[in-house]
Amino acid sequence: MSRKKIALIGGGQIGSILALLIAQKELGDVVILDRPEVADPMKGKALDMMALRPHGGYDVNLSGTGDYADIEGADVIVITAGLPRKPGMTRDDLLEINLGIIATVAENIKKHAPNAFVILTTNPLDAMVYAFYKQAGMPKERVVGMAGALDSGRFEAFVAMETGLSTEDVSAIVLGGHGPTMIPMVRTATVAGVPLDALLSKEQIDKIADRTREAGTEVVKLLGNGSAYNSPAASCCEMVEAYLKDKKRVISSAALCEGEYGIDGYFMGVPCVIGAGGIEKILEFELTAEEQAMFDTTLEAVVSTVKETGL
Ligand code: APR
Repeated sequence: MSRKKIALIGGGQIGSILALLIAQKELGDVVILDRPEVADPMKGKALDMMALRPHGGYDVNLSGTGDYADIEGADVIVITAGLPRKPGMTRDDLLEINLGIIATVAENIKKHAPNAFVILTTNPLDAMVYAFYKQAGMPKERVVGMAGALDSGRFEAFVAMETGLSTEDVSAIVLGGHGPTMIPMVRTATVAGVPLDALLSKEQIDKIADRTREAGTEVVKLLGNGSAYNSPAASCCEMVEAYLKDKKRVISSAALCEGEYGIDGYFMGVPCVIGAGGIEKILEFELTAEEQAMFDTTLEAVVSTVKETGL
């Protein structure tokens, strides 16, 4: 059986770390594609990671390119191409520039790898995944935005930090749009089945939820130039692995909702089953009135950003 082929569109901060994580897990051969002007630096990054093989213990090939012909037949594509946020910018400030980039990427994926499972990270995420879907014409099962995996991971990390308990035992999910209206699901979060309110005060829980919503901005401010990349890359890797290994993982992801949670025609962060069929199922459960109100607010925010795309 030949190795799987994973193409990364954008070999910046997230793309570079993701290439290494994928190689270390031996999920498949990796092609890092970026703008033709930076094809050489991409080749350099890939060569450096090839030279890491004897130390990293992996036997997959990595290559860099500026030519879409090299992604031909890719099984999985992760799109990180686009500008990241700088301090003072919201994710929505990136819309116009990144929209143009996504249009070109969609056209090329349609041409060279129409059967791939495509994961996007480019911000503003909810609008970019919508724009890609509209322009690439691929089935909804194979187009998804990476946001919930990252936001849920941040939520879990903060719970572990506040309780002093192992991250391994924390299970928490963030739903909704990838922005300040996202919904850290406090009610369903547990540490090994123990509800959060048995471990933390209401003030502590509220603080964690607020910090989760602003976690990306907190990192942007501290970095001073660019946005988070390690945890986004690890989140993408988790999704790639779930698909290639048919794991049926339940990962919050921006998936096209057609009636689920009362949403029709928009990508929204919802609990998704990811396996060989891509987004195989969206899991639904009943929300409280308060959670439903938060869902309505996040949907409004997503709809308004999507409308700005004009698609
Ligand atoms: N085609 C291919 N690659 C492109 C294109 C294009 N048309 N335009 C830009 N790129 C590349 C850049 O050259 C750069 O290498 O996309 C890469 C983006 O990398 P970074 O600037 O380091 O950004 P990164 O931190 O990786 O974030 C990527 O994910 O989380 C989001 O907001 C973030 O939109 C941003 C994206």
